[in-house]
Amino acid sequence: MFRGIKRAEGHKMAVSGSANPQEHWSGRAAFILAAVGSAVGLGNLVRFPYVAGETGGGAFVLFYLVCILFIGLPVLCAELMIGRRGGGSAVAAIARLSKSEGKSGIWTIVGWLGMISTFLILTFYSVLAGWVLHFVLLSIGDLAGAIGENGLGAISSPAFEAMSKDDISSQLGELLTQPVRMIIMHGIFIIVTIAIVMRGIKGGIEVAAKVLMPIFFILLLALTVSSLINGDAGAGFAFLFQPDFEKFGAALSDGSILLDAIGQAFFSLSLGSAMMITYGLYLSREDQIPGAARAVAFADTSVALIAGLAIFPIVFAAGLNEAAGFSLLFNSLPLAFHQLPFGGIFAIAFFIMTLFAALTSSIALLEVTVAIADGDVDVDPAKRDRRRVQGAIVIGLIAFGIGVANALSQVSGVETFFNTWHPLDFIPLFEGLVLLDLIDQLTANILLPLGGFLTAIFAGWVVSGSAAREELNFNSERTFKIWRFLCRWVCPLFVGLVLVYAAIIAPMLG
Ligand code: PFF
Repeated sequence: MFRGIKRAEGHKMAVSGSANPQEHWSGRAAFILAAVGSAVGLGNLVRFPYVAGETGGGAFVLFYLVCILFIGLPVLCAELMIGRRGGGSAVAAIARLSKSEGKSGIWTIVGWLGMISTFLILTFYSVLAGWVLHFVLLSIGDLAGAIGENGLGAISSPAFEAMSKDDISSQLGELLTQPVRMIIMHGIFIIVTIAIVMRGIKGGIEVAAKVLMPIFFILLLALTVSSLINGDAGAGFAFLFQPDFEKFGAALSDGSILLDAIGQAFFSLSLGSAMMITYGLYLSREDQIPGAARAVAFADTSVALIAGLAIFPIVFAAGLNEAAGFSLLFNSLPLAFHQLPFGGIFAIAFFIMTLFAALTSSIALLEVTVAIADGDVDVDPAKRDRRRVQGAIVIGLIAFGIGVANALSQVSGVETFFNTWHPLDFIPLFEGLVLLDLIDQLTANILLPLGGFLTAIFAGWVVSGSAAREELNFNSERTFKIWRFLCRWVCPLFVGLVLVYAAIIAPMLG
């Protein structure tokens, strides 16, 4: 059944001179939709609001935007360039590019690091997506129950009407006491992810993006408009866009706000993780990289900000704590929906939207590793489809296994070993973190920035100016020079300094 995937033919050679016969996106729009699908996910809808909430809003947002513009965008161009020019999975692309530039094979470490990061992210991402799935079912069940009891008129009433506020805000807590349910939800999510990735670029990833992303955008806009009308729009805007420089100054002293903003920028744009290298691999020669990168960065950043405007006004209007961490989404929002007319519909729409966004991202997370089976030019084309299917199943199942440990680390009420295990307690930055929180911190705040740091150096110093100029094809030499300057100097120095200071020096100083 996977034989039907049509292979694009006749495109130019990868850098080594060998033809790369893997599938390509069916066009620029398909690529942008899939790349935006990968970028927009729990990072925008869960991580951005909670990091902004905990670090004090406006100041963090301002710094985050600066990071996107001067670090995220150049690294995104660099990753797409490496993927398309290298013509293979992330590791193979970097190996081939280094060879063609006469440089050491050691640079493949950037590809390996990215693959390890994406794999690790998948192991916890799918657990959190499982929570979202649980909330989708919960909110559908709640509305169906209300309609059953009170007829269709129940649609216009608030969500979870029959429950008390305490019951509503303990819904996540309740899920955390049910390890089996958590594991089943995580399992269902991984199976769907595997089933899509198995079908390849055009038949799986593109189709999923084309179906899910438009629904996502419609739901996001509807929810935002409703939140601005029904919630405290002024407080939401002020929180997101009015920097509190006192808080900013305090957080600056240990560099944590800088590391959080850089980490969030990399996580949200799926950078430093070899993911965009992998999607760049399937990009055709006719597509312009800078324009595509701009579109992806713009869409991703807009979604984070708009999601903030969908969430904070109703959180403030309901008098809830904006710094509630993960529970902002799972506890505070249901409480806010409890106070809204048509709240039941909003609850369902919100969680379905989040689930769709998570799915298009988890597909990308799995694809990075599966691309070894499908994307490498030396894979026998006759075996490609079977290897893709096998790769997706094996990697997906291993991620599921580690995900089970991640899920168990979040369980409360019963001891599961994993919920009292703090694997890297001896490192100040990771003190007291259980497995899932540890992998989140380790990937977003260390591995992705490190991957981005190395990618910028690779693109700026290892790849020759002429190769980069040809591949990126900026519309002016000046823009190319700015890109190269950012990759050579600004990204490495800035990300390097923040990493060393905020991840090593400040935690040691206590
Ligand atoms: N960018 C995704 C999000 O914001 O949820 C997360 C992600 C997906 C990170 C894919 C890395 C990746 F390769």
